[in-house]
Amino acid sequence: MPVVPTLTLNNGVAIPQLGFGVFQVPLGETQRVVEDALEAGYRHIDTAAAYGNEAAVGAAIAACGIPRDDLFITTKLRNGEQAIAAEAFEASRRALGLDVIDLYLIHWPVPSAGLFVDVWRVLEKIYAADGVRAIGVSNFLQEHLDTLLAETTIVPAVDQIEIHPTFQQAALSAKARTLGIAIEAYSPLGQGADLNAAAVTALARKRGVSPAQVVIGWHLGIGDIVIPKSTHLDRMTENLAAAAITLDRDELAAITALESGARIGTDPAKASHSQM
Ligand code: A2P
Repeated sequence: MPVVPTLTLNNGVAIPQLGFGVFQVPLGETQRVVEDALEAGYRHIDTAAAYGNEAAVGAAIAACGIPRDDLFITTKLRNGEQAIAAEAFEASRRALGLDVIDLYLIHWPVPSAGLFVDVWRVLEKIYAADGVRAIGVSNFLQEHLDTLLAETTIVPAVDQIEIHPTFQQAALSAKARTLGIAIEAYSPLGQGADLNAAAVTALARKRGVSPAQVVIGWHLGIGDIVIPKSTHLDRMTENLAAAAITLDRDELAAITALESGARIGTDPAKASHSQM
């Protein structure tokens, strides 16, 4: 099994840099898929209340027999529950069957609701009460990070945002890193679309690896935490093996050159309270 590097978050907590995401994994398949991912060697699983599959993730965790301390589990606060964040956190903890969540994120800033600063203060309390080992945000743009940093105490450990070769958010990533906020890439393969880019397939041929391994190797090389998903065990194994690939500077640059502003998900400035 490949050794996955760990990054140290700004509060000293270690996170496996390559994890497994379960966004869009069908509910009926989630327990099997997470059990397969754990069997393949993943130890970092990323879910969210809004995905509706926390209980299935929890069932896989309970069934796997892996010591709790060897696992790193992330979940996220649903937009529609920002006004009841403390209760929502408890519900997530129950659904996952865990006393302590490793990383809890505000899923979207929902600026139109004007709640994210208050929500962050609730997460700070949950952190102080040891309900969670690290707290962070997702889909926060620079202006949202600036507001949080100006008005609250704890600097988010991570900002989980859409990043893949054709949509990199490089300025936001660079700014977050200067603030001590680690960047986590979601939809890291561009939901599969970026695997067909000519620069990716050419580099895959040259290195004798798969296009997904090139793209995951690129994320690891630029310092992202990355959470690819697949419902297929062979692809889970293939993706995890990318931990052993080190792209050189020119190879990284060839993939970075694919930036084309191809956002797949919702613009965080516009994501609504009812969504997710
Ligand atoms: P599948 O689940 O059928 O394997 P992202 O993580 O960016 O959201 O991308 C997930 C998409 O990429 C899914 O459609 C998944 O399909 C596909 N995918 C994941 N790993 C691979 C791989 N190694 N090769 C090809 N497609 C992959």
